[in-house]
Amino acid sequence: MYCTRKVTPTVTWVGGNDRRLALFENLFPIPRGVSYNSYLILDDKTALLDTADAAITRQFLENVLHTLDGRPLDYLIINHMEPDHCAAIAELMLRFPSLKLVGNAKTFPLIGQFYPDLVTEDRTITVKEGETLSLGAHTLQFFSAPMVHWPEVMVTYEQSEKILFSADAFGSFGALDGILFADEINFERDWLPDYRRYYSNIVGKYGVQVQNALKKLSGLDIQVICPLHGPVWRRDLDVLLGKYDTWSRYAPEEKAVALFYGSMYGDTENAVNILASALAEAGVHNIAVYDISSTHVSQAISEIFRCSHIVLAAPTYNNGIYPAMLNLLHDMKALCVQNRTVALIENGSWAPTCGKNVRAMVDELKNMTILEPMVTVRSSVNATSREALEQLAQQIAQSMQD
Ligand code: FEO
Repeated sequence: MYCTRKVTPTVTWVGGNDRRLALFENLFPIPRGVSYNSYLILDDKTALLDTADAAITRQFLENVLHTLDGRPLDYLIINHMEPDHCAAIAELMLRFPSLKLVGNAKTFPLIGQFYPDLVTEDRTITVKEGETLSLGAHTLQFFSAPMVHWPEVMVTYEQSEKILFSADAFGSFGALDGILFADEINFERDWLPDYRRYYSNIVGKYGVQVQNALKKLSGLDIQVICPLHGPVWRRDLDVLLGKYDTWSRYAPEEKAVALFYGSMYGDTENAVNILASALAEAGVHNIAVYDISSTHVSQAISEIFRCSHIVLAAPTYNNGIYPAMLNLLHDMKALCVQNRTVALIENGSWAPTCGKNVRAMVDELKNMTILEPMVTVRSSVNATSREALEQLAQQIAQSMQD
């Protein structure tokens, strides 16, 4: 049975939710599920903005067919060719023989790679930067947004209702629990962590491209943002645009310390607890401690995007970095983490080398400040290393006031 919601009297959300999928992209845990958004505009012509993931095709098609109410679908706008938004292209082409696919020069080669022989020239319209397509009262205008999140990505601006169909940009993990609009949720309390984890892990690498897109879109009068995942925004757009600006500049959101530790037998954890307690005693109260062996790396990355200061603590392992910490450092580099203040703790019973190796990897990132002293623990914290931890807490507290 159909399950749709109106965005405006002529624009209908025809997407769906998946709460069964454990890992988005087979990588990222999504305990709250995910929505695949698609939007249908009814005018003299009908236009669908993107399709949906294969997991929800049945629901999606019911929604589209119900909303069309017997009318043909004239245009399918393909803002993004990643399969979580493209699974129903072939089905729609079969059902609507006059349907035209609208994309840009980079869209159609990708369709050919995913779905060979599906598309013929007579069924495509290739649009260029800023071009428009009239549906009647509605006019769609197309702008490229390369690498937000793939090279072919474009966003579509509907001029009469001032709606931006923003592709992956401004999206979030999390199924829509009946709600559609961001003004129907408690954003800060219930959704911001999922928005941040989605942004930092999915788009985080492409901060420069996101900044370029934000600049390009700043000239448009945008009243509504319709992303491909998560709620639709029709109020307080500055809140979301502000977050995107902060994240894409790799600026910390908060003066806060996130402490990440790997610990085989509890001794490195003990060092981190001592440091965290000393921080609290020094007046730093925005503190979060994570065991990286049991914290998904996507959650750690999200916290690094939030916090101004991070502590990396790990044992030496195979004469190098403890694997879970190494994994986090690889992700930090891949996602272009920068502009953070870092403190280091290493453990090693006979030849501690972890700290030196972690320092070298942090040094490869842009504009990172490493605080001294790096603390070395020999098996377990003793009076000397405890004193060093207290010194380090003072350094962190001091630098948070700068
Ligand atoms: Fe939601 Fe880049 O796909």
